[in-house]
Order: sequence, then C-alpha cells, then structure tokens
Amino acid sequence: MTVLVVNGPNLDRLGTREPDVYGATTYADLEELCRDEARRLGFAVRIEQSNAESQIIEWLHEAADTASDVVLNAAGFTHTSVAIGDACAMLTGRLVEVHISNVFARESFRHHSYVSPHASGVIVGCGVNGYRLALQQLAAG
Ligand code: DQA
Repeated sequence: MTVLVVNGPNLDRLGTREPDVYGATTYADLEELCRDEARRLGFAVRIEQSNAESQIIEWLHEAADTASDVVLNAAGFTHTSVAIGDACAMLTGRLVEVHISNVFARESFRHHSYVSPHASGVIVGCGVNGYRLALQQLAAG
C-alpha cells in the first residue's frame, strides 16, 4: 500500500520556524523520517506539502479515489478550513491526523479541528515522532 502524508502551510519552514514550538528538525529531515519508517514497516509513502488549501484538497480527492490511507497535518487550515474537513469526510481509506505541537496546550483557537471528526486517530504533541507513530498505527491495521 502507499500511504499519503500531507503537510499544510508553513510546515516547509520546519527547522527555522518557531523552533521552540516545532523543534529543530527540517522539512527535509521530516520527509526522510517518514520514508525510513515506511520502508521499515514495508510500505510505500508519498509525502506532499503545500501552502495552498486547494492543492491539499486535490491530494485528498486523489486519496479518496485510490482508497489510500492518509496522514494529515493540515497545520493552520486544521482550525479554519471547512473545505478540508469536507474533503476528509470523502476519504475511503483511514485518516490519521498529526500535530507536532500539543495544540491543546496552546491558544484556544487551536483546540478545534475540522479534520478530527473524520480521523481514525489523532496524534498531538509528540513532535515529529508523531508521523512515525501515525505510520505505525496504519501498519498495525
Ligand atoms: C500544527 C499546529 C497548528 O495549530 C499550527 O497552525 C501549525 C502546525 C502542528 O503541527 O503542531 O502550523 O499543525
């Protein structure tokens, strides 16, 4: 199986973006971490990042059409995008939502997610290791 890992806005700036919140791992490191973990678990992974809501929705549509499992960190769109929530509702494979930071220990606007109601699991506050955990969860079945 090929798992689709989708990252939303500003995650391409990992490593330099608010390192006290998101850590020192770069986006390239994150891609490598996902590829290594998927290889170890024995499945293929496709990793995408966009700052554009429409692009994220297009990837979710593709995943719905191919019944792919999805790991999604919709970043800021998590808390604002009805449209990304609607695209998540269409998914036919499983969806694991990831947030690097503990959104519940931050501002109250980060406590609501349009993604969570459609997710089979949610991983928050585990740093970039959350992506590893999400892939492991999908591999566990
Ligand atoms: C985030 C948390 C969001 O609130 C924030 O807007 C992000 C990153 C995280 O991974 O912790 O961009 O999704």
